[in-house]
Amino acid sequence: MMTPLPGEPPAGLSAQARSLAQRIDTREAVVAVVGLGYVGLPLAVELAHAGYRVIGYDIDGAKVEQIQAGVSYLLDVPAERVARAVAGGRLQATSDPGTLGQADVAIICVPTPFTRNREPDTTFIERAAREIAATLHPGHLTILRSTSYPGTTEELVRPYLQASGFGIGQGVFLAFAPERMEPGNLRFPLRRVPVVVGGCEPAGTYLAGLLLAQVSETVHAVSTPAAAEMTKLLENVFRNVNIALVNQLAMLCERMGLDIWEIVEAAATKPYGFMSFSPGLVGGHCIPVDPYYLAWKAREYDFHMDFIELAARVNEEMPYYVATRALMAINERKEHARPTRIFVVGITFKKDVPDFRHSAALKVMEILLRQHVEVAYHDPFVPEVQVNGRVFTSQPLTEDVVGAQDCVIIATDHSSIPYQWLAGHARLVFDVRNALKHTPKGDNVITL
Ligand SMILES: NC(=O)c1ccc[n+]([C@@H]2O[C@H](COP(=O)([O-])OP(=O)(O)OC[C@H]3O[C@@H](n4cnc5c(N)ncnc54)[C@H](O)[C@@H]3O)[C@@H](O)[C@H]2O)c1
Repeated sequence: MMTPLPGEPPAGLSAQARSLAQRIDTREAVVAVVGLGYVGLPLAVELAHAGYRVIGYDIDGAKVEQIQAGVSYLLDVPAERVARAVAGGRLQATSDPGTLGQADVAIICVPTPFTRNREPDTTFIERAAREIAATLHPGHLTILRSTSYPGTTEELVRPYLQASGFGIGQGVFLAFAPERMEPGNLRFPLRRVPVVVGGCEPAGTYLAGLLLAQVSETVHAVSTPAAAEMTKLLENVFRNVNIALVNQLAMLCERMGLDIWEIVEAAATKPYGFMSFSPGLVGGHCIPVDPYYLAWKAREYDFHMDFIELAARVNEEMPYYVATRALMAINERKEHARPTRIFVVGITFKKDVPDFRHSAALKVMEILLRQHVEVAYHDPFVPEVQVNGRVFTSQPLTEDVVGAQDCVIIATDHSSIPYQWLAGHARLVFDVRNALKHTPKGDNVITL
């Protein structure tokens, strides 16, 4: 099926769709961003700076207060841009769902976590859809951006909108356009990340593409919301599976006395047919979570995504592998009877971001604590954290602190850490991230 490219209105566009297209074009359209987290806030600020009046709606009153005060709680969003958008009347944050009625477009950017049993938790999406439906009016466009299984837009969001009495494609419009940003990645700001969009009907694709083209240089249309939903999952499953492959190779290399980092670097010199992935701890709220959405949905079709299960098995084993190797390396060198001390450097799920949701470094701490290890950590982005019900505070990187440890595990390689100094003062370093790549390694450094 041919889909209309954004910019080319599909044939037979209704008067309501034409009117919204014009309002998007002239910046008269009011846009509501539902959920002001890592995805929603940057988008709201970009849309405001593109000239739209943006209503940022979040159920978290603290976030709303900060935005209204011109404060940014995200490193990627400069406070000055928030303040300018708020002061100029372009951005207004609120916790009042009634305000959604003022908007021509609602973009849903709410969380999609999984349950304890690793099944999709779509309650945030459903609540957002219910709240949008409560104030729906003709000519309204809803865009879902939260990552979810193929079918979410049609099966979960559409019924809420339709229950309010409007026909999708006639009175109101609906599309899915996954968010593909990577917080902390300065090479690819929002504008440079192409948007994939799939509407429930050609008008939905067209209108969503038209709006998102104001904040992204490229829009790629697909035939249905499910195709766009699957595209996003393919991207994240691809990453998860490939990391699992190098993680398994890393374990084999260790047994064979080979250096996985040297091998990945060498393989990456091939100019085609190879893509480089680093071994390590896999965390965050996307890569380890999203594949479960697909595996869950696949079962409805009597289908088992073995790649996803296998990748999860390998990647979820990594914290246990890291903890075990650290303990084994300490035991080989241990000369005292006191409890073992391990210091974890970097506990966020990736470098240079403050996000520690589903961080595998915390899992390493959890495993070590269960082994009665005295655990401490340092992370410039996380002053305090709870592990196994205990509160830990980030320790300073001093000679006394580092010298007192049996092992320092570099779990996340933040740019600001003095790695060479660390290796010079620690008894033993387990470098899980190859942070000491450019440093001559002494006998006290082991790598993944
Ligand atoms: N963070 C990323 O790097 C990233 C990248 C691509 C895709 N995604 C996906 O985007 C979605 C959002 O992720 P995030 O990281 O921004 O989450 P987040 O937790 O940072 O932000 C979500 C926000 O939504 C708010 N919220 C929850 N329910 C709400 C409701 N009914 N109405 C209004 N606000 C509500 C929360 O209070 C929170 O502020 C998820 O599906 C995620 O998988 C995230």
